[in-house]
Amino acid sequence: MKMMKFAVVGSGAMGHGIAEVLAINGFEVKMIDISWDILNKAKSRMEDSLKKFYEKKIITENPEEIMKRISMSTSYDVANDIDFAIEAVPESIDLKRKVFQSLDKIAPSNAILASNTSSIPISDIAEATNRREKVIGMHFFNPPQIMKLVEVIPSKYTSEDTINRTVDLAKTLGKVPVRLRIEVPGFIGNRIYLRLLQEACREVENKEATIEEVDSAARYKLGLPMGIFELADYVGIDISVDLWNIIVNRGASDVNCNLFKEKMNNKELGVKTGKGFYSYPSPGKYAKV
Ligand code: 3HC
Repeated sequence: MKMMKFAVVGSGAMGHGIAEVLAINGFEVKMIDISWDILNKAKSRMEDSLKKFYEKKIITENPEEIMKRISMSTSYDVANDIDFAIEAVPESIDLKRKVFQSLDKIAPSNAILASNTSSIPISDIAEATNRREKVIGMHFFNPPQIMKLVEVIPSKYTSEDTINRTVDLAKTLGKVPVRLRIEVPGFIGNRIYLRLLQEACREVENKEATIEEVDSAARYKLGLPMGIFELADYVGIDISVDLWNIIVNRGASDVNCNLFKEKMNNKELGVKTGKGFYSYPSPGKYAKV
């Protein structure tokens, strides 16, 4: 694959990880976000992560050299020579459509515009552009630096060439792409995640099990790397609830879960706030529970 240039729009939990994976693999990345404060936070998260990988010899290139391939900007203008953009802004259809309109105006006409959305229909995003056949879903999982799965989601407009180029990119990044056949709400992975959340919540609310018991069963029966409530803390309770609402609004059946509502009301959003279903000594830093 030729040395393509990338834009990553949105530098939060997913965006910074995606940019890091691209740079580790030798690609030049332009990170775009709305403020320098957010971009600088992303920079230090990438530096910390690269340091860990380097110390463990998972990467052999010096982290400083890798970081040189990542530039940052608060303007879309830097996307004027890219081959591929990956958007990773919050899950709002209006926001995503605005981002795609901006990219569509500036990026070269042959550039692919991908969304890391976990739940919004790609067709709705593509309709905001004049290159619908070059718009696709490329959904990474958190943490993108470690999780292998990438869902590739074509919309009804996406061309075979765009799909093939996106699948090839995922493979080049060392990921395992899974191509969706049709645009279903929540795609594949998050539909399963939603069911786990719903069932876990039901068991606790019905007093059939405690949070810790559910999480032990998830770890030691299903072999998940984290318990289900622990995973919700890790992903973010607000992100999980947004995802839940979007999938339910698009036709999946709901389980009314007060446990999650309480956490939202108390602003106990998981690892990022230092408290969710469990407590974390350093807010923002995951620690095994
Ligand atoms: N960069 C570098 N190193 C990292 C890292 C990162 N981003 N994240 C974790 N690590 C390191 C840790 O620092 C730790 O290193 P250490 O041993 O030197 O301290 C090492 O990886 C192992 O981590 P831990 O021992 O703390 O914990 P685990 O062994 O459990 O690994 C995990 C952490 C990889 C996050 C693992 O628990 C896991 O795979 N959890 C499940 C994650 C998951 O399911 N993600 C999907 C969420 S759903 C989603 O993303 C969809 C979205 O649309 C909502």
